[in-house]
Amino acid sequence: MTFKKLDPEVLEQLKAAVTCKVVAGADVAEEYSHDEMPSAGTGMPDAVVVAASTEDVSAACRVLYENDIPIIPRGAGTGLAGGCAPICGGVVIDTSKMDQILSWDLDNLIVRVQPGVYLHDLAAAAVEKGTMYPPDPGEVYSCLGGNVSTNAGGMRAVKYGTTREYVKAMTVVLPDGRVVRFGAETAKNSSGYSLQHLMVGSEGTLGIITEISLKIIPQPKFTVSLLGVFEDLPSCIRCVSTVKLSGLDPQALEFMPRTNIDMAEAFTGKQVYPHEAEGVEAGAYLLTTFECNSDAQLDELMESAAEVLLEGGALDVVVYDTPEGIRNAFAARRACPEAILEGYEHVEECDIVVPITAIADIVEYAKSIEKEVGLDIHTYGHAGDGNVHMKICANNMDEAEFRRRSQNFLDLVYGRGKGLGAMVSGEHGIGSASIDRLAEYSGEDVMELMRGIKAVFDPKGLLNPGKVCKKA
Ligand code: LAC
Ligand code: ZN
Repeated sequence: MTFKKLDPEVLEQLKAAVTCKVVAGADVAEEYSHDEMPSAGTGMPDAVVVAASTEDVSAACRVLYENDIPIIPRGAGTGLAGGCAPICGGVVIDTSKMDQILSWDLDNLIVRVQPGVYLHDLAAAAVEKGTMYPPDPGEVYSCLGGNVSTNAGGMRAVKYGTTREYVKAMTVVLPDGRVVRFGAETAKNSSGYSLQHLMVGSEGTLGIITEISLKIIPQPKFTVSLLGVFEDLPSCIRCVSTVKLSGLDPQALEFMPRTNIDMAEAFTGKQVYPHEAEGVEAGAYLLTTFECNSDAQLDELMESAAEVLLEGGALDVVVYDTPEGIRNAFAARRACPEAILEGYEHVEECDIVVPITAIADIVEYAKSIEKEVGLDIHTYGHAGDGNVHMKICANNMDEAEFRRRSQNFLDLVYGRGKGLGAMVSGEHGIGSASIDRLAEYSGEDVMELMRGIKAVFDPKGLLNPGKVCKKA
């Protein structure tokens, strides 16, 4: 397929077809060319359709499809795998202004939203209604459409699973402009292929999501967070399975080396975690959250959780039992990725996920090859579900040398991961950078099926070309 550029005539057709704003040419802001990981791909679009409705998206797609112009859906642009980067040019359909929570059905525990609603806003509104929307990726100013498109996970996935578990139904615009409805708001559904689940994690390659029905749950009544302070990363990471097997069912179980917390504290200008415990310098932290349903259970829960952490090797335990304390403890964790990005000229991302029993192995392996590959490796993340984030970083290095070294690191880590039952990405997605890795892990037969599915949804291959399973 040869993609066409948006010529002035088609631009006029596009503007006439929609009721919303269309920005074109030199007026398009640079940020539309990438997400938060520009190393995963960049490219300026010819124009941006700032969609206000499903009808706008449909009308724009009709014109673009007819004229063989790539269509790139985009939310807040906070992705980390280059998913919304227009690497083949084309027109971005920005759904971030479709930002309304449409309705609450508290009897059936369903909320209907437009794709541009920020996760932060939905989470806060759900709490006000005595409910909870469990997925909690680090970036709360991400849009729900993007969360669905990448199957975002986050801090509470260890107990509640990822976005996939909460997507019941959706409205989707196909690349040729047809509008379809996938799934149902029922509790169960065994009615043919689960097309709404196929959309989850499809990174804008199959259709454009314009409305989502999400499952919510009753809000847990009491939560408490405990920070385990460890002497070093190995002892911290080995405590993960002790907590998992304790039966206390943590809502969150995050690990952070001290070096990341130093960077996060410098970035936020706020020290939250202790730097030493029992006269020993802190080397790593495990941040946990637990839930219970009554005040009476809370003390016992705190005691048991502290015991588990101490028995699992923590030097000391800090308890955060106020909403502000919990918020601050997690703010330090949330600041980790941004602080690392701020500190380096070159950053590459690895979002490997391994079985829980292999977490210590993959983290220790990644750190053990740091010197050999000649790059700074920062690991942190969702220890409880095996999703280890690795930031591969360097300063004062030329781009080609950084690429060569980071590729070497990724080959080594994913080579090790394969033997451990790993998968390429736990929650950030494939984008274009990890296509070969996905093929290597999945095999040609699986890739052929993926390309076949893509062709059914998008026969001309116009939708977000060069992502997930198609080379640009
Ligand atoms: C995190 C996001 C970036 O866990 O995945 O911080
Ligand atoms: Zn994460």
